[in-house]
Amino acid sequence: MNSAEPGPDKPDGGLLDLIKTRRSVRRYTTQRLPEDDLLRLVEAGRWAPSGSNRQGWVFVIVDDPKYLEALEAVAPGIIGRPAAVIAVCIDLSGKARDDGDEELPPMDAAMAAQNILLEATALGIGSCPVLSYDSPSVSRLLGLPEAIRLELLIALGYPAGPVRVPRRRRTMAQVAHKNRFGCPPEGAAAWDGDDQT
Ligand SMILES: Cc1cc2nc3c(=O)[nH]c(=O)nc-3n(C[C@H](O)[C@H](O)[C@H](O)COP(=O)(O)O)c2cc1C
Repeated sequence: MNSAEPGPDKPDGGLLDLIKTRRSVRRYTTQRLPEDDLLRLVEAGRWAPSGSNRQGWVFVIVDDPKYLEALEAVAPGIIGRPAAVIAVCIDLSGKARDDGDEELPPMDAAMAAQNILLEATALGIGSCPVLSYDSPSVSRLLGLPEAIRLELLIALGYPAGPVRVPRRRRTMAQVAHKNRFGCPPEGAAAWDGDDQT
């Protein structure tokens, strides 16, 4: 890789920088998030790709302190008192249910969730995906109809202080293969900076 080209520790202001800036935040200020920003996050989510372009997602925005407190009681994965939570759900009624495809909903939800995490990062909002919760309790609390399946929660809020999660990643050579498993791509090592494990 040419040294003038962006690499792991060479910011280029592009999407890769934003992707690498995102961290899971687990300490938030008490400042509320503007309604418009919350809707902007949903906007990011609904522009994600989905299997057969089904767009079966449903996003429940929770920012009422009463509901947040109740949510935290049944979702131990929510840490640090977020100002809001977005529940990413998939509507399994109609076509999705008829297809009987169990694999697409979590994939679709994950695509939407990552869009939300990245847009939050761009807005200076801290976020954390949360899968540790009691699904029936959360669904009941949010009043989800039976056909709406909860896939993931996203905790959101302005970060309180520096984010201390290690940013280490496995090396490029450990994760990337070229054409066949076990064959490392040429130049993989150039992507390994001091943030590798
Ligand atoms: C599917 C999924 C579920 C997760 N569930 C939780 C959770 O319940 N609670 C939590 O604090 N973090 C949760 N995380 C965040 C991971 O711990 C975090 O992404 C990982 O440690 C890497 O750190 P980073 O996000 O700062 O890069 C989850 C992440 C994913 C992708």
